Amino acid sequence: MNYPPTAFWRRSVVAICAGLWLTISCGGCNGTKADPTEIVIGHYGSMTGSEATFGASTDNGIKLAVEEINAAGGINGKKVRLITYDDKGDAREAGTAVTRLVTKDRVAAVLGEVASGLSLAGAPVCQENGVPMITPSSTNPKVTKVGDMIFRVCFIDPFQGSVCAKFARESEKLKASKAAILTDQASPYSVGLQEEFEKAFIALGGSVVSKQTYQAGDQDFSAQLTAIRSSEPDVIFVPGYYTDVGNIALQAKKLGLNTPLLGGDGWDSSKLGEIGGKALDGCFYSNHYSQQDPSERVQDFIKKYSAKHKETPDGLAALGYDAARILFEAMGRAKSLGGADLAAELAKTKDFDGVTGRISIDADRNAVKPAVILEMKNSQPEFVTTIQPGT
Ligand code: PHE
Repeated sequence: MNYPPTAFWRRSVVAICAGLWLTISCGGCNGTKADPTEIVIGHYGSMTGSEATFGASTDNGIKLAVEEINAAGGINGKKVRLITYDDKGDAREAGTAVTRLVTKDRVAAVLGEVASGLSLAGAPVCQENGVPMITPSSTNPKVTKVGDMIFRVCFIDPFQGSVCAKFARESEKLKASKAAILTDQASPYSVGLQEEFEKAFIALGGSVVSKQTYQAGDQDFSAQLTAIRSSEPDVIFVPGYYTDVGNIALQAKKLGLNTPLLGGDGWDSSKLGEIGGKALDGCFYSNHYSQQDPSERVQDFIKKYSAKHKETPDGLAALGYDAARILFEAMGRAKSLGGADLAAELAKTKDFDGVTGRISIDADRNAVKPAVILEMKNSQPEFVTTIQPGT
């Protein structure tokens, strides 16, 4: 070899050193190198768009749980770090966000989504990669059927549909025998809940006198509402999300339609009353939790959450908190944080004392829990009753 070294040799040495450095520093380049002193978890949710409160509330609930576990020393000495991605309420974005969490950030588990349609987009990615996913709040039965890595800490829509039907038929406030239904036809949640409500309402001796559809984001509901008005229902079942529901309520009132609306947990948002205002007074929806629950468990949570986030928690905040805490408990017990070991521990969750009730995971990885019915009064939800499963 000549001395001084030729440009060729100099370049080669630089290239080999750079290669070595890259291999060492990025652990094989399949993702970010894990820090052995922390546990990374992911959350995907709609932080923007017409369901923005869904993602924001859930994230705030999760953050409170993360803060608490870290203040208590973490999980077996490791601190928890949360990575959140905004899926903008879009199925393709949801899939991309979960792929990134699982393959790049190498999270130990994923929390999310709220909307069943978006959980159905993210769940297959978790399942294929063997990473456990817990949806705090997706109620469509299909979500956990994606596979043995997919869990939920909320009830499912066959129960929620029957809760709404029972309340419509039997409560003194409604005593409905004729129902009209207005469904978001592109939403798996809305379509599924509508089917369950209809089945249960008919089984209880009621009849469905009009079935209309819309698509999320529609601005004009007058054709559907006019058809509903002429069918003279006692109640109108609207299993949609809060932005559309608020607009539907406003337009129904404008058409002189004073029939009470009834819906499911998709109404749950502080924005519902802001959008629908007085038009929603006397309308009802089923949900996972009531802020007026006097139990210490709930009131304690409200106090801690409001101190941190400067707002009162909705049902999604409570479910996000419960989902994260159930995950942390399972992580604490698991043999390792590998997907199979963690999923095995999640499946063993029994009688967990959650803000949204006592949570046990059943053989299908769903939670069996009571539901509450809330009534809108002066743009605020007020507790009406609790309906237990199996009644
Ligand atoms: N259950 C709804 C769904 O499956 C999501 C939701 C839950 C929205 C709770 C608000 C409150 O799509």
